[in-house]
Amino acid sequence: MQKIKKVLIPEADLKRRVKELAEEINRDFRGETVTFICILSGASVFFADLIREVDLDVRFEFMSVSSYGAGTVSSGEVKILKDVNHPIAGQNVIIVEDIIDSGCTLSYLKRVLEQRDPKSIKICTILDKPSRRKVEFTGDYVGFEIPDEFVIGYGLDFDGRYRNLKDVCVLELTED
Ligand code: IMP
Ligand code: MG
Repeated sequence: MQKIKKVLIPEADLKRRVKELAEEINRDFRGETVTFICILSGASVFFADLIREVDLDVRFEFMSVSSYGAGTVSSGEVKILKDVNHPIAGQNVIIVEDIIDSGCTLSYLKRVLEQRDPKSIKICTILDKPSRRKVEFTGDYVGFEIPDEFVIGYGLDFDGRYRNLKDVCVLELTED
């Protein structure tokens, strides 16, 4: 059984921060076209909120990557389950992710996408757990740095559940 232990980031704080991130992106890319790549499924809720605060010529893409299981030695190898639909060569790309944890997923993905010669590539994440890094990795647009606790809600799941919660919450993992 799992219980929700506490609200870590309430809906209102998420809303405010998403607006700030979008404003930063609007400033940085004024007059440019930007391809936003949503990393499924965790980033879907954040992506939908962020993109509506962005005031640029935008394109949407969606990617899905496999996560390695717990206890697996992190080789940095991540499997692409669904790739973008159009080439990204010559484009400004912003990867939109739910959380940077070990950093393995994004560092692999960024390397793969860099090989496709985009004009620029940036990382936008709503959450960041810097204390958990296994590989060096920094996001360009980061919503909140959070402590080493397992969080759910606002797109993030535990075993496929809780993605629809409006707040980011901490899950209490119990034995039974
Ligand atoms: P990475 O460890 O940085 O490669 O993160 C890979 C993925 O793990 C993220 O995209 C999330 O889907 C998932 N993840 C990491 N920490 C959490 C958490 O606290 N709650 C839910 N999912 C998480
Ligand atoms: Mg995930």
